[in-house]
Amino acid sequence: MAVIALKCPHIRVTVVDVNQQRIADWNDENTDNLPVYEPGLAEVVKEARSRNLFFSTDVNEAIRTSELIFISVNTPTKTYGVGKGMAADLKYIELCARQIADVADNNKIVVEKSTLPVRTAQSIQTILSNNAKGLSFQVLSNPEFLAEGTAVADLFEPDRVLIGGDQSPEGLEAIEALTSVYANWVPRERILQTNVWSSELSKLTANAFLAQRISSINSISALCEKTGANVDEIARAIGSDSRIGPKFLKASVGFGGSCFQKDIMNLVYLCRHFGLPEVANYWQEVIHINDYQKHRFAKQIIDSLFNTVSGKKISFLGWAFKKDTNDTRESAAIYVAWELLQDQAEIHVFDPRVDKEQILRDLDYLAEQNIEFSKIKDKLIANIRVYDNPYEAMDDAHAIALLTEWDEFKEYDWTRIYKGVKKPAFVFDGRNLLNKEALETIGFEVKGIGR
Ligand code: UDX
Repeated sequence: MAVIALKCPHIRVTVVDVNQQRIADWNDENTDNLPVYEPGLAEVVKEARSRNLFFSTDVNEAIRTSELIFISVNTPTKTYGVGKGMAADLKYIELCARQIADVADNNKIVVEKSTLPVRTAQSIQTILSNNAKGLSFQVLSNPEFLAEGTAVADLFEPDRVLIGGDQSPEGLEAIEALTSVYANWVPRERILQTNVWSSELSKLTANAFLAQRISSINSISALCEKTGANVDEIARAIGSDSRIGPKFLKASVGFGGSCFQKDIMNLVYLCRHFGLPEVANYWQEVIHINDYQKHRFAKQIIDSLFNTVSGKKISFLGWAFKKDTNDTRESAAIYVAWELLQDQAEIHVFDPRVDKEQILRDLDYLAEQNIEFSKIKDKLIANIRVYDNPYEAMDDAHAIALLTEWDEFKEYDWTRIYKGVKKPAFVFDGRNLLNKEALETIGFEVKGIGR
């Protein structure tokens, strides 16, 4: 919304949220305090806020005065009842639709921005149509393809913008209204118009395909470790085939983030629901390989440290699910930590953007999902320490595990680090980020993913 406001100075954009603190933070004069860290975002918010971007808790007023309403609430995986652990929880979407129906006093275009299962637009349409005021609502699907860490750049120059809507004259008119917003900075040929179901399903499919590429290369990384092949060399070799392409072939400790796992589970659930078990099982395997990869990484650490990490200090470089973000949702680090903690390790974490409170919240979240963890959570959490200084986090460590590919890790004084750690000095590079040969010359024993 901040980018829309920046690129369309003639459009008034109001972002509303029921969370007062969050809105206060978005309005904070000091843009260091914005709730989301994203390169370039503070500048965009600052400029747009001085003109046509507003943050407010007055949801009803914003509904009444807007022509286009984007629903951007979260759609987490259901943690209860039917579809538990698989289906998307649509309660927040439903609440938004009901509030719009209650409050609106003229016709609106309602845009699904949240990632949603196919046919959700139908549910929103049903709720909106059942208003007693005779108003007419058009529901559009406009999924977001930005990636975290590069969100602003992705929004400035998207590969495509997707807008799905009803193919009736009123629906096409609504599609055109939203197209004309993006056309202020996105070339028209990059704005794809589809029916609403294609648009909804495209988002799930795009994320499933991206995640599938990572699981594919990660599965090969396991074979590389057995055979002496190098997974980065393989990625380069296959990525040079223009039909395959070089992107999203970086082997890693496993993908994280708020989208991939959730969207694939959602896709799997939909396939089962529509009686397509073979299709469901196919996509389920992408998640299975991802879990296997995280487990394999933790096991490699334990095996290398003479089959136990009990009482040993393992330093984590990175906790975020990827570099340049403070987002930790579904980060591989959380699951690797959990496995090592079960083996009674002490985990010493440094991440340039993630603080201790967030790490503790992540472990609380894990305890909610995992009954085994919840039983011994307090005891395990006592074995986690979080640092502001990376050198202190690594001092006297039995092993260093690199979980996030922050650029600064490459710049550290590794000779100094080597002097401070226990010998043999192990580095487990879950991102193949560091220069293996250089570290080995210093004296480290370096284990990476698939090499
Ligand atoms: C993803 C999609 O890319 C984006 O289009 C969609 O809108 C939201 O979900 P995001 O989750 O922000 O974006 O990050 P992304 O860059 O896709 O990375 C996801 C995870 O995959 C990260 O943990 C990342 O480290 C990992 N990854 C990515 C790899 O392990 N290897 C790769 O080659 C690429």
